[in-house]
Amino acid sequence: MSHPFLAAEDQLIANALKIRFYPIAVQSAKGTRITDQDGKSYLDLTAGWAVAGIGYGHPRISSKIKISYERLSFTSQLSAPEPTMLSLAQELVNMTPGSFPKKVWFGHSGSDANDCVAKLVPLAKKRARMISFMGSYHGQTMGSLSLSGHPAQTRFIGSGNVVKIPYPNPYRPPFGETPRLTEQILQYVEQEVFRTICPPEDTAGIIVEGIQSDGGLIVPPDDFLPGLQELCRRYDMELIFDEVKVGLGRTGKWFSFDHENLVPDVVVLGKSLGAGLPISAVVAKQEILDVGTGIHMFTASGNPVSCSAALENIRIIQEEGLIERARVNGEYFLKRLKELQAKVEWIGDVRGRGLAIGVELVEDRVTKAPAAEKTAAVCYRCFELGLLVFYVGIHSNVIEITPPLVISREEIDLAVEVLDQAFSDLAEKKINMDAVRQYAGW
Ligand SMILES: Cc1ncc(COP(=O)(O)O)c(C=O)c1O
Repeated sequence: MSHPFLAAEDQLIANALKIRFYPIAVQSAKGTRITDQDGKSYLDLTAGWAVAGIGYGHPRISSKIKISYERLSFTSQLSAPEPTMLSLAQELVNMTPGSFPKKVWFGHSGSDANDCVAKLVPLAKKRARMISFMGSYHGQTMGSLSLSGHPAQTRFIGSGNVVKIPYPNPYRPPFGETPRLTEQILQYVEQEVFRTICPPEDTAGIIVEGIQSDGGLIVPPDDFLPGLQELCRRYDMELIFDEVKVGLGRTGKWFSFDHENLVPDVVVLGKSLGAGLPISAVVAKQEILDVGTGIHMFTASGNPVSCSAALENIRIIQEEGLIERARVNGEYFLKRLKELQAKVEWIGDVRGRGLAIGVELVEDRVTKAPAAEKTAAVCYRCFELGLLVFYVGIHSNVIEITPPLVISREEIDLAVEVLDQAFSDLAEKKINMDAVRQYAGW
């Protein structure tokens, strides 16, 4: 760690707050580009873990923030509400499907929003249990980590009321190869899980990511989410979609569940909602969010400056046509990456929807042995070559591609070129593996 800034940061900032893939020291960012403290520019395929949906430093957001702060730097919406929060809530209610009475809860992160789900859904439903998926990432607070099934949270036991079921991973089917993955998983839930450890009449709801992101950018079979909705309806359970990472246009629709026209009872939002400012939201059936007064509140919830940024963010997504852009450019990116797969043996699978794309690396395509170290090496080399990517997955072997939605065709071509170069450098053993190993990632 030679950079003086990073050495100082290493001394002062908690390791609990770190997940590092390479030694970047950030200075500034604009659009799709990040500039480091030495003036080097990087094309960013991470959007800061999918936060910078509309890109960095959008002038409309910065002027809104200034105006909003000057009008009202803060009010605690818990006790002294103002109208920006109301406008945003109305917008979110209008954007989400379902004609039932809905309300909105506001927080600061995906974690506290999923904590809202963990606390309120069982209480409102008067059923103690919840179901979530192995590999899912819902957050790091106690409630949200209890719902999670990702190795990042397994150091903590969490609440015992959550039963975890396998996610339908088409590339690594949890019960072995099958032409009927959806049926297999849903039958397992009904015939094994419900009859043994998780009686449906005692289960309040199922929380799911439409694309399991940190679990490995896994896209379920097309019939899975409709099947899950049908199961929830049949047993009167709430269907909760965690859209924190892939919501708000990234998949080429407003929400991942819009691809199958589903109607969740609860939608969880965060990350890109505030265009960089911290804000999260839960949009849900009224009876869930009204189950008690003052039972899940944070002093700065619905911060007016974050709310005004979020409102402007939604307008920008609409007015700049970013959802369609994510769909079209996502298809192009996927096509280009599949061309790369034809060339690089280590690429076992390329999958995604819109600009949520995963590239899974394996040691060989027959055994599908996860190539975690190679994945770390490719990400590291891309960084050296001026391209930022992170990796995800329960085997730490999936390159995650979630760029700002404003990425251009030319930038996509450049990104594929750099990835291609990084794979060649890996094959030619040109990557400094000792340097790579200092960055453990997940
Ligand atoms: C699907 C999903 N839900 C929730 C979270 C947690 O959000 P936060 O880190 O803002 O607490 C994440 C973070 O990666 C996520 O991907």
